[in-house]
Amino acid sequence: MNKNTATRKRQHLAYILGIAVGLIALAVLLSPRYDKFHVRGPMNSGHDTLKCESCHQDAPGTLRQQIQANLRYVLGLREHPVDFGHQVVTNENCLACHERPNDRHPVYRFLEPRFLKARDALSPQFCVSCHAEHKGQRVTRPDIDYCVNCHKKTRLRKDPLDVSHERLIALKRWESCLGCHDFHGNHMMKTAKTVETIIPAEKIRAYFQGGASPYGTERRYQAKKEVDHDR
Ligand code: HEC
Ligand code: HEC
Ligand code: HEC
Ligand code: HEC
Ligand code: HEC
Repeated sequence: MNKNTATRKRQHLAYILGIAVGLIALAVLLSPRYDKFHVRGPMNSGHDTLKCESCHQDAPGTLRQQIQANLRYVLGLREHPVDFGHQVVTNENCLACHERPNDRHPVYRFLEPRFLKARDALSPQFCVSCHAEHKGQRVTRPDIDYCVNCHKKTRLRKDPLDVSHERLIALKRWESCLGCHDFHGNHMMKTAKTVETIIPAEKIRAYFQGGASPYGTERRYQAKKEVDHDR
């Protein structure tokens, strides 16, 4: 073996060792015993009283099995890594309490091929893209003009607005959309028809940060307070 391959082999080994040490450290950090030491920040609006387990389920297998499986993955002997300590929080976790049959933007739809570009820009297929947890807020994606990613072609056959949707879009008034529409369509509200009644951006942002809803207080679906494990 020449000197070069030997060096490369050694670098390779050091690399694997580095990853292995990193993984073990991560496993220790994420193991359930350490939970209480690093709750990551205030819970989001409405989540103060939820149990940790309603979103964080233990990953299958013992910690040792998890470490072994991930070492095998690093060494190329296994196709996928496994979760450590806890499973990743998914849409399923959220929907267990927030299922709303007529959500106007149901996340699963955004897996369709035509949303490829929007997925690159926003990842709208995941609840946590807009509602990251442990931030003490309600909506953590702060911009309000991302409707542009999917609504460039929105036209109404009989547009009821004083300035039509077509015109608003031509004028690139993307910040106006959330000024008349909520995102999920869960508020029982009458949609405004004049541009002068558009809710100002500051009010929308205050709502995102945990303030009162500018869309009113009545909603079609209420969240469940506990996960129904028989689902
Ligand atoms: C409403 C759901 C929800 C609840 C309830 C919740 N969390 Fe989380 N937590 C999350 C999400 C989402 C993340 C981001 C990481 C992920 O996707 O796994 C996270 C991340 C974490 C992390 C960082 C781990 C990581 O993967 O980055 C810790 C530690 C944590 N939560 C502890 C807690 C503790 C302790 C409680 C109870 C007091 C709790 N969480 C309650 C949703 C929740
Ligand atoms: C165990 C049930 C449960 C789970 C799991 C859960 N939530 Fe909630 N969530 C609630 C409750 C209860 C409220 C308070 C509802 C209210 O104020 O009417 C709430 C409030 C919210 C709010 C603010 C709504 C408002 O009216 O201000 C958002 C946003 C939200 N949850 C998103 C999520 C996301 C995203 C996840 C997954 C990471 C999640 N929730 C997981 C029960 C849950
Ligand atoms: C692309 C961004 C985005 C995604 C993805 C998203 N939301 Fe929202 N969500 C918002 C915005 C913006 C609001 C504030 C406007 C409103 O109230 O509809 C909101 C409001 C909410 C509210 C409070 C109002 C209500 O509808 O009761 C809840 C609860 C909520 N989201 C849950 C979820 C859950 C659960 C998921 C995943 C299934 C999710 N969201 C995915 C942007 C998003
Ligand atoms: C990832 C793509 C995507 C994004 C981002 C998006 N929408 Fe939509 N929206 C859709 C789709 C798909 C529909 C369903 C209509 C259809 O099938 O063409 C829809 C429907 C709607 C409807 C009509 C719902 C109904 O019941 O008729 C409104 C209002 C709406 N969106 C507003 C918004 C607003 C406001 C934003 C920005 C905050 C936004 N959308 C962002 C994809 C998106
Ligand atoms: C001045 C208020 C106002 C503004 C601003 C506004 N809309 Fe609307 N929008 C309405 C009304 C009113 C309707 C009729 C249906 C209804 O009552 O919800 C509607 C309907 C829609 C529909 C349903 C179309 C259909 O075929 O049923 C979509 C999608 C939509 N708007 C998207 C948008 C987007 C994207 C923007 C930002 C460019 C926007 N709206 C800005 C008030 C508004």
